[in-house]
Amino acid sequence: MLKKSINEALNEQIAMEAYASNYYLAMASWCERKGLEGSAQFFYGQADEEREHMMKIFRYVNEADGHAHAPAINQPDLEFESFNSLFEIALNHEKKVTKSIDRILKLATEANDFRTQNLLQWFVDEQLEEENQMQTILDKLNLIGDSGVGLYMLDAELSKKAEEKEAEEEGE
Ligand SMILES: [Fe+2]
Ligand SMILES: [Fe+2]
Repeated sequence: MLKKSINEALNEQIAMEAYASNYYLAMASWCERKGLEGSAQFFYGQADEEREHMMKIFRYVNEADGHAHAPAINQPDLEFESFNSLFEIALNHEKKVTKSIDRILKLATEANDFRTQNLLQWFVDEQLEEENQMQTILDKLNLIGDSGVGLYMLDAELSKKAEEKEAEEEGE
């Protein structure tokens, strides 16, 4: 049986992943309206991934005899200042998620809850990847700028990234 405090923390994490999914959806929509098709595909992919994260925790909680709560989801920002700002917001949010995962992992460690620790260990690796990914894109944006040819090139690269991810998932 899951400890009540851990169950609650995991429900908060479920809500956080759902919110992230929604945020990425808003970003995808913004990109699509600006004609940035590749970036839109990238953010749609991110939105799917966050929903998978949510489901991974959701299923675990019930499997571990807890009670997974379907979350209330706040509407995220729908407008963004610039292309650059999308990735700054994304990176900041991923950092918040990392902190939250770390906090719950600490709780699980203190409670000798090895199963939850095992689940969260997967998220520790995932967060490292996600933060790195956003940071790399931001670094590139700083190099080439977020207008004109640079933006066009980066959009093409993000399209490729989205396709690669999809192919990876189909291969799994
Ligand atoms: Fe996530
Ligand atoms: Fe994420």
